[in-house]
Amino acid sequence: MNYLRLGVNIDHVATVRNARGGESPDPIKAALIAQNAGADGITAHLREDRRHIKDKDIERLMAEIELPLNFEMAATNEMKDIALRLKPNAVCIVPEKRMEITTEGGLDLISQFDRLKSICHQLNDNGLRISLFIEPDLRQIETAARLEVPVIELHTGTYSELRADNKKNELKRIQRAVDYANELGIECHAGHGLNYENVGQIASIKKITELNIGHFLIGEAIFLGLTNAIDKMKRIMAESRKIEV
Ligand code: PXP
Repeated sequence: MNYLRLGVNIDHVATVRNARGGESPDPIKAALIAQNAGADGITAHLREDRRHIKDKDIERLMAEIELPLNFEMAATNEMKDIALRLKPNAVCIVPEKRMEITTEGGLDLISQFDRLKSICHQLNDNGLRISLFIEPDLRQIETAARLEVPVIELHTGTYSELRADNKKNELKRIQRAVDYANELGIECHAGHGLNYENVGQIASIKKITELNIGHFLIGEAIFLGLTNAIDKMKRIMAESRKIEV
C-alpha cells in the first residue's frame, strides 16, 4: 500500500523523433532505459492525430518491453479497437481535443456517461484494467464509481501550475478526492505537470498508488540523462512517502 509506483511517459521522445521524421530518438529505447532505471511502468498516449506516439510504437512497446504498459487513449471506437487488439496491461481514458498542446483538464464523465459506459464495458469484458483521467472533483469520482472502473487518475495540472504559496487549497481538493475514491473502493493514480519541486506533496498522499510523469522527465534527461532523471524522481518520491499527511 505504501509503495508509490512511477509510470514514465515517453510521448515526448517521440515528439523529438517526429520533428525530423526519422527513427531517432527511439521511444522504445527510452522505455528500455526507463525499465532498467527502476520505472514501474511505461505510459504512452496514442493520439488521434499521431503527433507523437504512432501505432508501431505501441506494438513495439508491447513486444519489446517487460514493464506494464499504460495505454492512454481517447474514448473513440478506433482507440477502443486498438486496445482490444493489443491488450495492454492498463488503459487510461483521457479527453482529447485536436488543437490542444497537451491534455487540458480531465474527462467530464457526467456529460459523456453513456458513451463511456459502453466503451468501459467492452474494455472491462475483455479483461482490460481501466483508469479514467479526471479532475479531483467529487461528482466526477462518484460518476467513476457508477461506471464501475477500478482506477482513476487525478489530473494534477491545476495544482502544478499554481505558485507554491497558492497550492494549499488545490492540494486539499486532491486529498479529499483521494479519500473519497478510496471510500468507494477506487484506486487512485495522479499525474500531469509533476516535477522535482512539486512532486513531493502529491507523493506524500499515501493512498495514491501511482504517478505518471512525462514531459519534465524527458526534458530533464537532456541535462542528466534519462537514468539519472528517473533515479532522482524516484528518490524524491520515496523520501516524500515517509511524510505523514
Ligand atoms: N497522465 C495523463 C493521463 C496524461 O495525459 C499525461 C500527459 O500526457 C500525464 C500523466 C503526464 O503529464 P506530464 O507529461 O505533464 O508529466
